[in-house]
Amino acid sequence: MHIAYLGLGNMGAEISARLAVFAKDNGHALTVWNRSQDKYAGLRSKIGATFATDLKEIKGADVVFLMVLNDKASADVLAQVLEVCPTAVVVDQSSVNPKTSIANEKAAAAAGARYLAAPVFGRPDAAEAGKLIQVVSGNKEAQELVKPLFDVSARAVINVGEEVYKATTVKLMGNAMILGMMEMLAEVYALGDATGIEPDVFQQFVEMFFPTPSYQVYGRKIGQGSFSAAGGFRLEGGLKDANNILSVGADLGHPVPLPTIELAKKHMLRAVEMGGQDQDWSSLSAAVREEAKLEPYRKKQE
Ligand SMILES: NC(=O)c1ccc[n+]([C@@H]2O[C@H](COP(=O)([O-])OP(=O)(O)OC[C@H]3O[C@@H](n4cnc5c(N)ncnc54)[C@H](OP(=O)(O)O)[C@@H]3O)[C@@H](O)[C@H]2O)c1
Repeated sequence: MHIAYLGLGNMGAEISARLAVFAKDNGHALTVWNRSQDKYAGLRSKIGATFATDLKEIKGADVVFLMVLNDKASADVLAQVLEVCPTAVVVDQSSVNPKTSIANEKAAAAAGARYLAAPVFGRPDAAEAGKLIQVVSGNKEAQELVKPLFDVSARAVINVGEEVYKATTVKLMGNAMILGMMEMLAEVYALGDATGIEPDVFQQFVEMFFPTPSYQVYGRKIGQGSFSAAGGFRLEGGLKDANNILSVGADLGHPVPLPTIELAKKHMLRAVEMGGQDQDWSSLSAAVREEAKLEPYRKKQE
């Protein structure tokens, strides 16, 4: 089987590195591609694959993964893929609006390809450890074909059926929970700083009572005030998700008010205004602290 992996950002670099090992062990070919190829120098030692300089080099691939930032990138890259691989199974792991999943599936079907909506839960460190949660919907046979490839980076697969919009809707629902959790962590850690409770002390409670990766990672980032996006998720992506979360009900015919997400979005926008555009999305905390009349950042950012 010829597999192509397109998009070598924080997530794609980790997933494709695992796929490269799997492909080598199982006699498959893996070609990887990224829009900005200045990244290749740093990735060649990590990902044992053929690095394409032009998307045409994936011609004939049987399975093509996409892992790009947003809806526009997903649709644009898909259109280029369909020109060279019109009968492939396209597995879109990008987190996009369910409307985009529907439009992408139509475009793929018109070319003769099959399209799966396949977003993931878990940060790059979970991808590196093979512990993602993979969500998928779309054509059943295509799902069966790629299931062994999901198992390479995921500890579990949630199958949401054949309608592609459902997997990306589940992803948005999950990200709404993560965003709401970060908003709450930012508020309580601000309260702690205002009342003389050391973040390390409160973090003990967080880790004992909520022993899950999200609370641990974001509790530490927000408590300590360290917002490097290296190996994480930038505010730009967080804002894309917040906008998709806020519109998905209306997009699918039934708007639902989501006041917590409105608030978290406002704080992310303010964090960008404060110069944090390259920071992790948990830096919404700086805006929460500013409103609480605390120093926005507990310490100087790297
Ligand atoms: N990071 C996380 O914790 C996490 C967790 C779960 C899901 N996700 C989702 O996974 C996806 C990727 O996230 P990430 O954290 O890996 O993002 P990232 O590190 O910012 O990487 C974004 C990738 O998208 C590519 N890209 C952006 N615009 C493009 C365009 N117009 N055409 C072609 N390629 C384009 C970038 O290429 P360049 O290098 O050329 O800019 C890069 O490869 C997003 O949909 C995100 O919501 C992220």
